[in-house]
Amino acid sequence: MSTSAASAPRPRVLVLFGGRSGEHAISCATAGGVLRAIDRERYDVLPIGITPQGRWVRVDDDPDLWRITDGTLPEVAELPERVLLPQEAGAREVRVIEPGLPAADLGTVDVVLPLLHGPYGEDGTLQGMLELADVRYVGAGVLASAVGMDKHFMKVALAAAGLPIGPFATLRGDDWAADRGGIRDRVAALGLPLFVKPARAGSSLGITRVTDPADLPAAIAEAQRHDPKVVIEAGIAGREIECAVLGGRGGARARASLPGEIVVTDAEHTFYDFEAKYLDEEAVSLRCPADLPAEVTARVQDVAVRTFEAIDCEGLARVDVFVTDAGEVIVNEINTMPGFTPYSMYPRMWQESGISYPDLLDELLQLALERPTGLR
Ligand SMILES: Nc1ncnc2c1ncn2[C@@H]1O[C@H](COP(=O)(O)OP(=O)(O)O)[C@@H](O)[C@H]1O
Ligand SMILES: [Mg+2]
Repeated sequence: MSTSAASAPRPRVLVLFGGRSGEHAISCATAGGVLRAIDRERYDVLPIGITPQGRWVRVDDDPDLWRITDGTLPEVAELPERVLLPQEAGAREVRVIEPGLPAADLGTVDVVLPLLHGPYGEDGTLQGMLELADVRYVGAGVLASAVGMDKHFMKVALAAAGLPIGPFATLRGDDWAADRGGIRDRVAALGLPLFVKPARAGSSLGITRVTDPADLPAAIAEAQRHDPKVVIEAGIAGREIECAVLGGRGGARARASLPGEIVVTDAEHTFYDFEAKYLDEEAVSLRCPADLPAEVTARVQDVAVRTFEAIDCEGLARVDVFVTDAGEVIVNEINTMPGFTPYSMYPRMWQESGISYPDLLDELLQLALERPTGLR
């Protein structure tokens, strides 16, 4: 006997957000957009927040609570409870422990939607935990998440795949303290301006554009507030173009959207920094689709899909490139969990390419539900 779609059980989606990284608030904002748009007729939703301290707690399912309003950043509040994921292969039950009470059942989970940016969420750590329990989840697996998070290994992987990247140097741990002169010489070869970045952060946190070599020590110190590992890049003069990639269904190749463009219009921001990204709406204009010759659009899309494939990415990713005056396409980075509010570039690029925000969410959840667990 066949079951009609309406009476079939709805997959239970654990929407996970917040988290320990510097991008906590951005993750909450993304969750707000998702909680509003997810089709409740098709999916049963269990929202779970991770506090800045790393505790998993139940949160309100009200999208309005999870918004950046007037420059105020949302945050998952600390609570005296702990939500526990299934802990062993095959288990499906999510539980909550409150002090002095026996563990309570929160029902089962079919798929996790990890709306987490940065370390402890977008970097493979959470993905590893879900793999251990055989729980399905949206997006990149352990390796792709880790490589996508680490700007050094991202470049190593892309270069090995023959993809175009810019010149860079990597400083680990004590490198800078041990040999300032040697590092200054290496960095001098990169010219000016330089971009000094934490290897594993996001949202432009800890990034400094350096135009005077005398400012290098301060820029390295700033990056090291976020990560002891630092990447120093040659500044690339070009347009900032982004392209959204979506995994293929049923073994098909990944798809690329129409590209978009970031134009920083306010001279106070010399690059696409944190303020320009989230707090200063007037500072940037997001142009979608980007006004590019068809031939350049095609090359951006090709580079985006090959970048996705170079790190064995799954589900979704936003690939950010520079397009130079000469029409050269240089990859800046791949984001395995890009900003995902309805106003974010990733959904907007799909919107322009014919996939609405709710449909995109549905597509991502279906991709995750059809994907086998274990080694793939
Ligand atoms: N090598 C570079 N040349 C020119 N601009 C850069 C370079 N690297 C970064 N930027 C600028 O800094 C922004 C943030 O850098 P990015 O590497 O994308 O960090 P994040 O992972 O935090 O988004 C970019 O969007 C761009 O505006
Ligand atoms: Mg970026």
